[in-house]
Amino acid sequence: MASRKEENPFALAQRAAKDIANLTGVTEHDIALTLGSGWAQAADLIGETTHEFDATAVTGFSKPALAGHVGTIRSILIPDGRRALVIGARTHYYEGRGVRSVVHSVRTAAATGAKIMILTNGAGGIKRHWRPGQPVLISDHINLTADSPLEGATFVDLTDLYSARLRSIAREVDPSLDEGVYVQFRGPHYETPAEVKMAETIGGDIVGMSTSLEAIAAREAGMEILGLSLITNLAAGIQETPLSHAEVVEAGKEAESVISKLLADVVEAIGTRA
Ligand code: HPA
Repeated sequence: MASRKEENPFALAQRAAKDIANLTGVTEHDIALTLGSGWAQAADLIGETTHEFDATAVTGFSKPALAGHVGTIRSILIPDGRRALVIGARTHYYEGRGVRSVVHSVRTAAATGAKIMILTNGAGGIKRHWRPGQPVLISDHINLTADSPLEGATFVDLTDLYSARLRSIAREVDPSLDEGVYVQFRGPHYETPAEVKMAETIGGDIVGMSTSLEAIAAREAGMEILGLSLITNLAAGIQETPLSHAEVVEAGKEAESVISKLLADVVEAIGTRA
């Protein structure tokens, strides 16, 4: 899509939203979800999938870089009548396609009308009592990419970026949910133990390679944001064994049914507070 790089990213998102409206016949979605490692089954539990298509059928979406990251988009009818847009295709910053590509899905979700953005991921845990397979709420983030999806003098407030209201609803669904500060590294290498120590020292609890840039773009678009991490492993240096992608995928698979049900319940609960 290099030829489209110069196109205004918001115009590109508008075109993508139009594609989705054409593919689904649904002109407005209420809530959008990006499903990261381990969260994919939630799509089946939220409601009735009325349309599912390859993300590449939509303007500005590229092929997923990684097998296991599902590259489809679904329009789902929630039993209470709301519409969810579920994005199973995430472009990671480490793919080197630029930050506009990373946040295109979020801007597209906003252009379809979604007012709430739920961002999920698989991540490493710094808190020592956390266990692989445990979901945690993101309370705030530290963006270590040294990049931003905002261009020019766009000064966006990030106080309460991860909505206290939505976190409280999630905690009503599962009172055992802990929360922490997400630290986004560029990746795709995992962190060194020294970097994890640094992340902890500066106030981080979770380490990962996504979400922060997307959350900033979602806030710019005026959306309310809920962030959830599946702790797939304890971060480097905290767990004694080396990290592996296979381990991350395995932890995601094991936890998938439980956390997907949790997420579907949270989506339902949000509907009761609209
Ligand atoms: N670090 C960064 N990203 C990750 C990790 C981690 O430990 N686990 C899963 N994604």
